[in-house]
Amino acid sequence: MALPLPPKPNSRLSSLLLPLLALLCLFLLYHSTRHSPFLSRNTPPLSQTTPAALFLSLSSAAAGGGAAAANATIAGDLRALTLRPHLAGTPAAAAPAAFVLSRLRAAGLRTLTREYSPLLSYPSAAAAAELSLLSPNGSLLAALSAAEPADPAARLVRPYHAYAPSGAAAAPAVYVNRGREEDFRALERIGVRVEGCVAIARRGGGNRGGVVARAAERGAAAVLIAGDPGGGVERGAVLLGGVGDPLTPGWGAAAAAERLGPEADEVRRRFPRIPSMPVAAATAAEILRTLGGPPPPPEWATEGLGFDIAGVGPGPNLVNFTYQEDRKLAIIQNVFGLIRGREEPDRYIIIGNHRDAWTYGAVDPNSGTAVLLDIARRFGILLRSGWRPRRTIILCSWDAEEFGMIGSTEWVEENLGNLHSKAVVYLNVDCAVQGPGFFAGATPQLDKLLIDVTKKVKDPDLGDGTVYHTWERTDGGINIERLARADSDFSAFLHYAGIPSADFYYGKEFPGYHTALDSYSWMENQGDPMFHRHVAVAEILGLLTLRLADDPVLPFDYVSYAAQLQEHANALSTLLDDGPSLEPIYSAIQEFSHAANEALKEGEKLQLQEKGENFSILWRRAFNDRLMLVERSFLEAEGLKGRWWFKHLLYSPPEDYESQLSFFPGIADAISRAANQSDMERQRIIQHEIWRVARAIQRAASALKGELF
Ligand SMILES: *[C@@H]1O[C@H](CO)[C@@H](O)[C@H](O)[C@H]1NC(C)=O
Ligand SMILES: *[C@@H]1O[C@H](CO)[C@@H](O)[C@H](O)[C@H]1NC(C)=O
Ligand SMILES: *[C@@H]1O[C@H](CO)[C@@H](O)[C@H](O)[C@H]1NC(C)=O
Repeated sequence: MALPLPPKPNSRLSSLLLPLLALLCLFLLYHSTRHSPFLSRNTPPLSQTTPAALFLSLSSAAAGGGAAAANATIAGDLRALTLRPHLAGTPAAAAPAAFVLSRLRAAGLRTLTREYSPLLSYPSAAAAAELSLLSPNGSLLAALSAAEPADPAARLVRPYHAYAPSGAAAAPAVYVNRGREEDFRALERIGVRVEGCVAIARRGGGNRGGVVARAAERGAAAVLIAGDPGGGVERGAVLLGGVGDPLTPGWGAAAAAERLGPEADEVRRRFPRIPSMPVAAATAAEILRTLGGPPPPPEWATEGLGFDIAGVGPGPNLVNFTYQEDRKLAIIQNVFGLIRGREEPDRYIIIGNHRDAWTYGAVDPNSGTAVLLDIARRFGILLRSGWRPRRTIILCSWDAEEFGMIGSTEWVEENLGNLHSKAVVYLNVDCAVQGPGFFAGATPQLDKLLIDVTKKVKDPDLGDGTVYHTWERTDGGINIERLARADSDFSAFLHYAGIPSADFYYGKEFPGYHTALDSYSWMENQGDPMFHRHVAVAEILGLLTLRLADDPVLPFDYVSYAAQLQEHANALSTLLDDGPSLEPIYSAIQEFSHAANEALKEGEKLQLQEKGENFSILWRRAFNDRLMLVERSFLEAEGLKGRWWFKHLLYSPPEDYESQLSFFPGIADAISRAANQSDMERQRIIQHEIWRVARAIQRAASALKGELF
């Protein structure tokens, strides 16, 4: 996205209009300070407070002077966003897009939109999915429901897996537990094969597409994934190996863009080969209760099913399953709110959340949308009190995340040149609130800032204390995850573009994930009855944004990055046998650590100089650029082996969804691929990937140092 300058007014016209405009502005200003629901006479001018203090004061009704408290505004926005289901690419998606646009505009932000036409996937409207149980001779035993019990009026898209191909199977069923690699191996040990069968898994086996792919590899004819008892039916995409529109890998899916055909290798390998569908626990139970064959392997606890199964199959009865997919180019829309930076308009602080939902989306993702809008509201008040950020702030409302992070990925791919040279950071919020407890993921240069900020935000669940206070006391203490997952919109920013990123949420393992239960009433009754957790997330994200946008010297800490790399290397060394040597990585980390310590000192010196006389703005700008570009050095143009789109050699998802490593993905891939190789070959492959990581860290060290020699 370009940041166009305001159009030049026609000079003759403007000489007439300007005085009039000025009068109008004065009138509006006077009027708005008297009657605005946002900025009351009680709001202190910025000369008497700091932007951060003003931002925080806007959570309560008192400071808003008549405006509703933040938690009430958030609750109202969330209700409006979740009145109806709003699946990406459908007509129902228009209302929340318009709502977000109007809220950003009302806050006083400049708004923009960007549309794409990616390939999306829906269940066919013409032919419903059909599911039945047949006796071994093919006669009908029972018709089974493919619907979601918690959606009796069928207001939602019926349960399906996006990008599951059309197909049919009438075959014996096999129970595969959660469908993990270890589950299939356990079946093999007791002599049960899934070839030609309908595999029935229960949810929780990690990446959904991975479960289907593992069954397909073993020759299964189809896969059904059961929800939790009492829960709903979990919709979701089963696209493989990457994110973004499958037809435009590496470039934006604009309407007139080049598109690969379905037969292109790159496209084909992203689609699952066999049909699959999510089903209700009760539907799966009707099949599982009739299974013969050997009893389940002892290590499979069946309590999650709510009953004991006698055998895992196959058969003797048959499952008859047909599914019809409707795959088509659909229109999606990203919505942006922009605050142009005053001194460094060409440096971007980007905050994003997706808007599209499988169902009502009260948790996933619109708790995050309501948070984003509250941040916009508060920034609007700051703007009216005279604040202008040093750097440009871009609030992003992404579309089609649920189909594979498509809205954000297409935008990053389209704007890669600008983002590479100008994006400082990407802050993501997806399911902002799904229960109690603060969780964070970030690239390590943001750790210190993140911790600082949580010390300034009130704990939403306690009368006193801060988010930090509670976070520190949880099991395992402060634990910041590294973002090696590709399951939210930070993926393209970090894994593809190498932009420092962070992600936040309250609560974990929401039971209504992607089901009819993800509704406003769940949030109101269970998730966050007073909407205080929402407020906490808004304040954490808002304060982070203010620091990143306004601090003269970027608050990036590479000393903690170096320490984290050292920990990664140590963890890796316990996984590797004597063969490959980690020496290249250790010595690169040493170099990086040295550069980080030097940068720390230089930053402190700059901060001192700023108060003195011989201060150079250019020096500071150059120093900030070094801080900003370090993360880019971890990218490698040709990407990971066999997965070129993933270019970040420290944090990208490993190919094997069950890898024990959540860092150094190239090494993780080499370890899992080399399992069947000779010792020498195995060592060679792993050592090469070790060298690649070492070189990336070395590049980062020299970028941070900022000198060629
Ligand atoms: C098929 O099997 C069912 C029970 O499994 C039995 O009731 C039915 O008579 C059988 N039909 C034929 C045509 O053999
Ligand atoms: C399986 O179901 C489909 C769709 O309802 C039906 O057309 C087909 O005849 C069934 N197959 C068997 C073997 O009953
Ligand atoms: C907002 O919080 C206050 C207490 O701080 C509570 O009384 C009120 O019900 C909350 N509003 C909503 C909409 O939950």
